[in-house]
Amino acid sequence: MSLKIAILASGSGSNAQAIIDKINSGSLDATVNLVFSNRPEARVLERAKKANIAHAVIDHNEYPDRIVFDRKIAKLIHDHDCDFVVLAGFMRILGKEFLQEFQGRIVNIHPALLPSFPGTHGINDALNYGSLITGVSVHFVEEKMDSGPLIIQGALPILPGESLEALSKRIHAVEHRIYPQALQWFAEGRINLIDKRHVVLKPGNKRILPLESLCLINPPLEQGF
Ligand code: GRF
Repeated sequence: MSLKIAILASGSGSNAQAIIDKINSGSLDATVNLVFSNRPEARVLERAKKANIAHAVIDHNEYPDRIVFDRKIAKLIHDHDCDFVVLAGFMRILGKEFLQEFQGRIVNIHPALLPSFPGTHGINDALNYGSLITGVSVHFVEEKMDSGPLIIQGALPILPGESLEALSKRIHAVEHRIYPQALQWFAEGRINLIDKRHVVLKPGNKRILPLESLCLINPPLEQGF
C-alpha cells in the first residue's frame, strides 16, 4: 500500500530530500503529499517547492498555545490526504492529542543509538562522551521524546580524532539510507508492533545487502537502499 506521507521538518531537509529521491528512483512506494515546517526560513521548504510538493509553514511563535498549533498541523495533514507522518528534524514537541491521532503512523529519526544520547545534540553528545560507537535510530514517536519503539538502527564507529563535522556527514549518510528503507517497510505492511516496545519486521522477498565494514545496520538493508 503506497504511503501518503506528510514530512514535518524545521531545517535543511536532507532527510526529506533522501525520501523524495528514493520515491523518484522507484525504490520507495510513497508520495509526499505535504512538507510542513514551523520555520519560514527552513531550507526544506525550498526543496519541496523544487520537487513540486505542496508545502506549508506555520511559525510556532504565533501560536503560544501548543494544542492549537498541533491542531493546525493535523488539519493540514488531513487536508492533504496524508496517512503517515514523518518527522525529519522537526524541532517542536508534539502533544498527546496529536500523537494519539496518528498513533502507529508517526515516526522519527534520531542521530544517535537510542536510548543513548536523546535530545537535540545527539551527534555532539556521543562525541563529547567519548563513545566509540554511535549511530542512527528510526523509531515510532511517543509522548516522551526520542523514546518510542525502534524500527531500524545503524551503528558507526567514531574514528580516532574525528571532528563533529566529519562524523555528522557519516551519520547523515546512514540516515539517508535507513529512513527511506524503514518507510518502504511500512509501505509493504511489514512493520509489526507486537507489544509496547518490540517491532518485528516481517520477511520480504528482496535481496538483503551484505553488511558494510564501517557501518552495521539492523535489520539489514534490502536491494534499492
Ligand atoms: C537529522 O540529523 C535527524 O536525525 C535529526 O535532525 C536532523 C535533520 O537533518 N532528527 P535534515 O534537516 O534532514 O538535514
